[in-house]
Amino acid sequence: MTADSAAPSGSRPPAGPRHVAIIMDGNGRWAKARGLPRAVGHREGVQALKRTIQAAPDLGIQCLTVFGFSTENWSRPPDEVSDLMGLVRTYVASDLARLEKAGVRLRVLGRREGLPADIAAIIERAEAQTAHNDRFLLQVAFNYGGRADLIDAARRHMQRMLAGETIEPIGEADITDGLATAGSPPLDLIIRTSGEQRLSNFLLWEAAYAELVFQDVLWPDYGPKALEEAVLIFRQRERRYGGRAVEPARVSA
Ligand code: FPP
Repeated sequence: MTADSAAPSGSRPPAGPRHVAIIMDGNGRWAKARGLPRAVGHREGVQALKRTIQAAPDLGIQCLTVFGFSTENWSRPPDEVSDLMGLVRTYVASDLARLEKAGVRLRVLGRREGLPADIAAIIERAEAQTAHNDRFLLQVAFNYGGRADLIDAARRHMQRMLAGETIEPIGEADITDGLATAGSPPLDLIIRTSGEQRLSNFLLWEAAYAELVFQDVLWPDYGPKALEEAVLIFRQRERRYGGRAVEPARVSA
């Protein structure tokens, strides 16, 4: 589905969200508060991610997109970068069979160049092994940046033009279909934990009509209850997509 067709002209009844994205923030602060190394915070973050993935389908969520490692995260100290890379190795090794059995399709968003060769291979294998699954889509943004993804989409269109495949100027659908998230349901909700309130270069194009929910909980403490709370907040929102409300506007107290 393209962005153009994703935007209805009026309000929708409260339902969904079908596609939720999460900026999993606060691992470092969680560890610091306990006098533990940051690596422990990230490890606990993986446990929180597992709990959250398991809870999502029961809330009607069909697609979950999480921010695992941004293009900016390379500027962290080498030890921490290496810890985060190591988490991918252990996460895929320990969870791929379970995800596969649960009907989860795993897709990794982000540039493959620059990743250690073994991580790129692990990602490719995991994607191929789960490609046939259609019960739930798990997208992990890794070496991902929203601006870089937009540039890549624009470049793809330019290459098609240079190859003589199209003479059309670039349009919304070309961008939507050229992004790493192409084919996933329109993004409904972005959650950021730890109280920070910004997008940090995550899903910039896809966020256009998404609802934003900021929760004070640190990511390693996240789980089914916090996810349900975010979903309930989402369902109370009125989504107008730039149009006017079908019902008279709610008067807030
Ligand atoms: C932000 O916390 C979190 C990250 C940079 C990494 C998120 C990764 C995980 C939760 C691990 C799971 C990921 C995969 C791909 C298996 P922070 O370190 O910025 O925390 P702080 O703001 O409190 O310092």
